[in-house]
Formats: sequence, C-alpha cells, structure tokens
Amino acid sequence: MADYKIHMLVCGGTGCKSSQSQILAEHLRTEIKNQGLDDFAQVVGTGCFGFCEKGPIVKIIPDNTFYTQVKPEDAKEIVEEHVVKGRKVSRLLYKDPKTEKIVMDSRGMEFYKKQMRIALRNCGVIDPENIEEYIARDGYSALGKVLTSMTPEETINVIKKAGLRGRGGAGFPTGLKWEITRQSPGSEKYVVCNADEGDPGAFMDRSILEGDPHSVIEAMAINGFCTGASNGLVYIRAEYPLAIERLKKAIEQARQYGLLGKNIFGTEFGFDITLRYGAGAFVCGEETALIHSMEGGRGEPTMKPPFPSVKGYLGKPTNVNNVETFASIPVIINKGWEWYNTIGTEKSKGTKVFALAGKVNNVGLIEVPMGITLREVIFEIGGGIKNGKKFKGVQIGGPSGGCLTYKHLDVPIDYESLIAAGAMMGSGGMIIMDEDDCMVDVAKYFLDFTVDESCGKCTPCRVGNKRMHELLTSITKGNGTEEDIDRLINLGNVIKDTSLCMLGQSAPNPVLSILDNFRDEYEAHIHDKKCPSGVCKALMRYEIVEENCCGCTACARACPVGAITGERKEVHRIDPALCIKCGACLDRCKFNAVIVN
Ligand SMILES: Cc1cc2nc3c(=O)[nH]c(=O)nc-3n(C[C@H](O)[C@H](O)[C@H](O)COP(=O)(O)O)c2cc1C
Ligand code: SF4
Ligand code: SF4
Ligand code: SF4
Ligand code: FES
Repeated sequence: MADYKIHMLVCGGTGCKSSQSQILAEHLRTEIKNQGLDDFAQVVGTGCFGFCEKGPIVKIIPDNTFYTQVKPEDAKEIVEEHVVKGRKVSRLLYKDPKTEKIVMDSRGMEFYKKQMRIALRNCGVIDPENIEEYIARDGYSALGKVLTSMTPEETINVIKKAGLRGRGGAGFPTGLKWEITRQSPGSEKYVVCNADEGDPGAFMDRSILEGDPHSVIEAMAINGFCTGASNGLVYIRAEYPLAIERLKKAIEQARQYGLLGKNIFGTEFGFDITLRYGAGAFVCGEETALIHSMEGGRGEPTMKPPFPSVKGYLGKPTNVNNVETFASIPVIINKGWEWYNTIGTEKSKGTKVFALAGKVNNVGLIEVPMGITLREVIFEIGGGIKNGKKFKGVQIGGPSGGCLTYKHLDVPIDYESLIAAGAMMGSGGMIIMDEDDCMVDVAKYFLDFTVDESCGKCTPCRVGNKRMHELLTSITKGNGTEEDIDRLINLGNVIKDTSLCMLGQSAPNPVLSILDNFRDEYEAHIHDKKCPSGVCKALMRYEIVEENCCGCTACARACPVGAITGERKEVHRIDPALCIKCGACLDRCKFNAVIVN
C-alpha cells in the first residue's frame, strides 16, 4: 500500500460540488498521475469544511494549506507548484478579510480557531463513501464497545451523565428519552433519525449526512441496542439527493461489513436501517407529523402525550432523535461522559452546530462549544460584518426563534441563556443582520414562512398567523396604527398559548422579539411612514433634486411606466402616483439627481 506523503482533501459537499469540485478532483488526480506521483500524493473527496462561501475548498495535509475558490484549471499549478516544488500557490490561499493577510496554515484561520468539531469531526477529513476511512478514525468502535462490554442501562447512563440534549430544537435530555423508550412496554420498537431539516437556510444535518453518514448509522444501532429496537428509519427530505446517495452507500457498506444486519459483532443483536423520504414540508420535521408522514398519512402533528417514545411509528415505542444528536453519540461512548462534561456550560453540555448566514464575512457551517458568546461567533468566527457595516441583529433559532440585538452580544450560547434573552437555540439557524436590514421586514419574512408552512389543522396557527401577517403587511405599507402593535402582541401571545404544536406555538416569536428589541423601527413605519433602512418599497419615494438635474433625459427613457416627465436640458419630475418604485431612474442618473426618501 502506498504511503502517501501528501493528502489533497477536496470538498465534495453540495456547495462545492455545485461549483465543479468533482471535476477539480479529477483534474488533480490526472495531474498527479501525469507527474508520476501516484504513490506520493493522494486526492480524497471529503464532506463539507464549513466554509462553503469560499468553495470549492482544497486542503492539503500535512501542512494544512487551505486553498479557496479553486477551479479545475488550477489543478495543474497546484500539483506542479505545491506537490512537486513544495511552494504554496499564494493566489489561492485564504486571505483574512480583516487583516487582508494571507493565511498559510488553516489552524491560523479565525473561522476555525474557536470552533470545536465533535458532530462534524469527520466532515472535511474523511471520504464519506469509504467505510474504511470511518473505521480508521475509531468508527464503529463505540458500537463494538457497547455490544461486547456494556449493558443497555450502562450505555444509557453514559449518555445521561454526559448531559447531551437533543439538537433538533427542543433540547430534551437524550439519555432520558432513550431510557423512556427502553422502559416503554412493547416487543417491537423503532429508532428514527429526523433528517427533515426544514428551517430556511439550515444545512447542518445535510452536511453531516453528506460528510459522515456512518456516524449516524453507528449511533442509531447503539440506540437500537439500548432501547430494544431492531429497525431504524431515517426520515430525510427528498431535496437532499447527495445526502441520500451517501447514506444509501454507507448503509450498504455497513451491511457488507456485518455492522448492520444480524448478529452484529458476533452478538445476538441485530439492526437494520431503511430510508423514508419527506416532501419538504417544515411541519413534517415535528416528530408526530413525521411519524404520520412515514406511516403514509397526512403530515400533521397530533397532541402529546402520548410521546413517540411511548406510542410512535405504527403505534410502537419510537425513539426520535436529530441527526446532530446521533452524530455526537459515538464520541461520547468512546471518550466518556466525563470528557463531554467538561465542554459547555452547567446545563448545556457539548457543542452545537450552526449555519451562520447573512451579513457576516465568513458565512458557513460552524460547530462551537456551548457557552461561547454571540460576539465571539459573529465577530471572530464570522469575521465581523460585511463591508464594514454596523451590526444590527441576529435571528437565532430559525422561524421559531428570536431576534437579538447588540445588547445581547455577550449572551452565552446555551439553552437557558438564549431563552432568557428572548430567543432559542432551535436547530441551528443563525442569520446576521446589518444596518441595511429592516427589522419589520425581517419579522414579516419569518411569518411569511410559518404562514406558508402551517398545516392548517388548528385555528390559532392557521388563522391567527395570517392575521398577524396582514397587520405586518399593513405596517410595511405605511397603513399601520399604534393599536396594531398591541394587536400584534395580544394575538401573538394567544397563538403561542393555544396552538397545537410548536410550529404555531413559536411562530410569533420573531415578531414579538423584534417588537421587544427594535420597537423604534415599528414606530418609524407607523408614525413617520418611513422605513429607516429603506427596504419597505411602499414607503419609499423617488424624487429628483432640481439643482442636480441637467435634463439629460436618461431617467425618463429608463422609466418603465412613463412616470418621469421633462424636456431635454430642463429639470425632470417624477409623478409619485405613477411611480412603481423600480429604482431604474436611480441607477441611470449619473448626476446624483435622483434620491430616495
Ligand atoms: C415545526 C417543527 C419542525 C421541526 N423540524 C425538525 C427537524 O427538521 N429536525 C429535527 O431533528 N427536529 C425537528 N423538530 C423537533 C422534533 O419534533 C423533535 O423534537 C426532534 O426531532 C427530537 O430529536 P432530538 O431530541 O434529538 O432533538 C421540529 C419541531 C417542530 C415543531
Ligand atoms: S400549530 Fe400550526 S402546524 Fe401545528 S398543528 Fe396547528 S396548524 Fe398545524
Ligand atoms: S437622469 Fe438625472 S440628470 Fe438626467 S434628467 Fe434624470 S434626474 Fe435629471
Ligand atoms: S423608480 Fe422606476 S417607476 Fe419610479 S420614477 Fe424611477 S424609473 Fe420610474
Ligand atoms: S460544501 Fe464545500 S465547504 Fe461546504
């Protein structure tokens, strides 16, 4: 077997793949072959590095060179310069956005310095399509350990003591859930992995399944051993073709290696996994709706109790856990609860994966120890706000979460602190907003989403959220009144208190938290009929400044609705009754004569 001196890790996650990373990997392989370096350098297709915005990524081991935005045409230069001559290709190296300095070693990148990768430990490190690579990094050793040297109770105890809480949103103690499922009477039980991931902008679970599918398979089998289940189901959205493909391959390989199927590790224990596909409805991520959808019914939630752990899939006890929760299990078994306990805060142990998005310099997938502050995430890992703009807010917890402001920047990221601040952990969406974002519009965006995704089963959510949406629309059009604020608060609280499932119970959160933290913006829309950030179109007014207008006619020719009048070399005017606020005149005027009020 070749003893490779250089490993070229090429990201094969969805983001980089869509920017031709597979072709790039092929080009690198060809160049290596052409140079006769087959025994010296190896190209490995991996999962996501988290830095998708700068993809395709190529990382070179052992010197941790981090090449960004690499194109297939760059393959020749990388091999000739880096592999043959040992000289890094500086134009492809990552440049720190703050210092503008080239980073020679990825360990020096602000983006990674404060991260701690547990659930993502193998993403960007191993080839997810090769079970041997997973095994080489302790893969399936946790399953072997529990099957051959531990009882289900001992294993559950480790998870309980570790303090792991569900990463799907609710933060329920994982060990306790496993114990309840184990203790629920029934000879047939199920393990379900929730890979529905419907939050807008979230891709944590997809990346884990694309980059390290075996970690989830191994954990599901461990859960089967603990709860007494021999069947596992992964509920995954059909829009995740790469994750599905890799998961299928991984399941097949695990079967071939005897790690799924009968008599695993020569024991009595048998376990296997099948896939179920979701059609992309957000509500189908809610565990009871998910179970109904898997049974072939409508994806609608039902009242709890009974909880799935007692009465779930086909009426049998069913342990539902999130992808990230499962991915954390094998490491906890291998390294021990004591180790896991040292990471995080008193009540929130371990790490959390976030999809960091919006107006930060470093957009991507991050995993951080619980207890890290929002400031550290946004300004260190995220590299601060794009284009030197001012930070305004952070929506944390997706459409169910809350929007926090600069006064919360030092809030530690843990379940309790986020709730106390008016947000929630959620499944890991984190969207950063700057001075150009209108917070009323942001509230409307999230409510738009929940109104669309409501299953319609109960009135407070189906009707109440629509009414809230109408109120917000009216405010963004300049027709809001002071009473509308009270109506939003009252209605929001009623919806929260009376909806059947968490979708409705949390849908008003963004609107209410934005009211708490950015009330002045609502008031500007209502009293001054102004959108301070210039986002709400209906409140914008295009005007021509007489002194600056030389009558060049460019704006009138660009206006699609004939709202601008004026003779050549004379001052032009905009008819506000006709203007549709398309902005074409603003773009066209070279004399700064068009302004927006
Ligand atoms: C509207 C809605 C959508 C949800 N979507 C997901 C999801 O996509 N993935 C997920 O793991 N949990 C989701 N949940 C939470 C699940 O109901 C459940 O709590 C979770 O899968 C349990 O796993 P955990 O204990 O590992 O977090 C959702 C809940 C609600 C109310
Ligand atoms: S709260 Fe909304 S999503 Fe949940 S059951 Fe009621 S209508 Fe359906
Ligand atoms: S493009 Fe500008 S300068 Fe020319 S007519 Fe229009 S407003 Fe006046
Ligand atoms: S914003 Fe558009 S519609 Fe309005 S005046 Fe300018 S070009 Fe015409
Ligand atoms: S998909 Fe390549 S870095 Fe995320």
